[in-house]
Amino acid sequence: MAELTKVCPTSEVADNSVKSFEVGSNVIAVYNLGGTFYATDNECTHGAASLADGILEDDIIECALHFGAFNVKTGEAVQAPCFTALRTYKVVVQDGQVCVDLEQTAAD
Ligand code: FES
Repeated sequence: MAELTKVCPTSEVADNSVKSFEVGSNVIAVYNLGGTFYATDNECTHGAASLADGILEDDIIECALHFGAFNVKTGEAVQAPCFTALRTYKVVVQDGQVCVDLEQTAAD
């Protein structure tokens, strides 16, 4: 049985934007891609940068620090200097809330 954790109301993340939220000991980036929500770790796998400060273009988040990039749906690193994939989380929208399953990835 999936254990869901509330992250934020859907209205907190505008269309085609990204915002970070503290969830327990994690900081999670929530992306709204045309009304569909995705979640990943907020910290870049290349360094101590917040991806919520990066530039979201379609399903690619570009890190503001060294301009590496990830696919937010799969976590795949798509642009150097990022080579390590980003952790994704399974997202469920329930009663207007973005919820994540911290034990599962988007692919699960
Ligand atoms: Fe993100 Fe270097 S810290 S690309």
